[in-house]
Amino acid sequence: MNTPHSKPTGKLRLGVNIDHVATVRNARGGAYPDPLRAAMLAESSGADGITAHLREDRRHITDTDIDALMSGLSVPLNFEMAATDEMQKIALRHKPHAVCLVPEKREERTTEGGLDVAREENRLAHFIAPLRDAGCRVSIFIAAEKRQIEAAARIGAVVIELHTGAYCDVHAERRFEERDAELERLRDMSAFAASLGLEVHAGHGLTYDTVKPVAAFPEVVELNIGHFLIGEAIFSGLDSAIRRMRALMDDARRETFGEGVA
Ligand code: PXP
Repeated sequence: MNTPHSKPTGKLRLGVNIDHVATVRNARGGAYPDPLRAAMLAESSGADGITAHLREDRRHITDTDIDALMSGLSVPLNFEMAATDEMQKIALRHKPHAVCLVPEKREERTTEGGLDVAREENRLAHFIAPLRDAGCRVSIFIAAEKRQIEAAARIGAVVIELHTGAYCDVHAERRFEERDAELERLRDMSAFAASLGLEVHAGHGLTYDTVKPVAAFPEVVELNIGHFLIGEAIFSGLDSAIRRMRALMDDARRETFGEGVA
């Protein structure tokens, strides 16, 4: 990998996505395990924020979970949602710290790609205006493509989250040339987004094996990680999984930029 050209200015934040605690709970339809309890544990293990995605079909996180997270958390909630009227009303009622707009298809297993902001620019500009007015930091989950980043800046988003799923997929399939090309693209697009004044986040599919190169991009200020951490919690416990991920992120920053930059 090339050497990044600038030093990060602050600590890289870790947002822990607790959706799949709710997936396990919903498998039995009761109240256990409780996503708020997991979120509070994540907080004490070093998470800088909690992410939860209220899907249209409520397959994991429910409206009641969002109520509980809003009143029980002391770190910021990043509320992921589709750009629908129903979700906008919910977000405006709660006014979370951040709202991350994601594409949603009922038939998908997970958020497969980024939002096509370029295609829906007008609608999304109107959609996010009241969320911004309510004080929410609006983030758009997009593929690492110039035209999507430019459109996100034009509609007035303050944050973009780059989808790291394609990078993680080719890494898992050991297609290393493609993986390096994906990384290069993510790195260049992080720098491009920051040059437009956007705050840059990244996430999707990240694991212990894939986190460090992304954590080393100087423009990235937050990583959002869920499925792997909740899976790993089965083997080592949630606290240990989060602490290890945090340590890898900090190692990546130190190894790339030297001591004092974590
Ligand atoms: N960021 C966004 C915008 C997402 O939609 C998701 C998945 O819900 C994540 C990060 C976390 O992805 P994963 O669960 O694969 O770590």
